[in-house]
Amino acid sequence: MAAGDIPAVLKIEAVSFSTSWPVNAFTNELNENKLAHYFVGRLGGEIVAYGGIWVILEDSHITTIAVHPSQRGRRYGERLLVHLLDEAIARGASWITLEVRESNEVAQSLYRKYGFTNVSTRRAYYSDNNENAVVMWAGNLRGELYKNRLRALRAALDG
Ligand SMILES: CC(C)(COP(=O)(O)OP(=O)(O)OC[C@H]1O[C@@H](n2cnc3c(N)ncnc32)[C@H](O)[C@@H]1OP(=O)(O)O)[C@@H](O)C(=O)NCCC(=O)NCCS
Repeated sequence: MAAGDIPAVLKIEAVSFSTSWPVNAFTNELNENKLAHYFVGRLGGEIVAYGGIWVILEDSHITTIAVHPSQRGRRYGERLLVHLLDEAIARGASWITLEVRESNEVAQSLYRKYGFTNVSTRRAYYSDNNENAVVMWAGNLRGELYKNRLRALRAALDG
């Protein structure tokens, strides 16, 4: 993701989340946060997906991921997640965490497919409706077991 991508990203953000990040949140992430890495997915030149991670030594965190509503269910979210995992691993991460709304079954199902499990609940984490966040985690990303899982899932995606 580059600065010029932010307007298109914000359009997807606005129709994907009940509380969206302000423009300067993305600008700060791109310009100021050395731990942050953001990516966009393009279809015919148009941005249809985006996502980001923080990598702090062996620890990584998915900060956001979204696909334009008109393009969901076509594996673009999955492709973006694979890219985030590849980047995290390439940058040295051994585990990865994220928060997801308790009601967000679709995203939780995607994360479970990639070996994430529920580790805890953050009560009333989302201030718009006081919804709980489920904290999910996948570990041992550099181990053979996880590498094989990722390889098999990637092959299924590409096949
Ligand atoms: C979550 C999101 C990124 C998934 O992207 P997507 O491109 O629609 O999903 P994909 O087509 O790549 O599907 C991959 C997996 O997601 C899950 N999934 C996707 N659509 C689903 C649905 N309608 N119901 C249940 N699970 C679903 C499944 O596990 C699926 O794998 P499978 O088909 O092998 O079962 C997308 O729905 C989105 O942008 N949602 C709004 C923003 C959001 O909630 N982001 C996550 C914040 S934590």
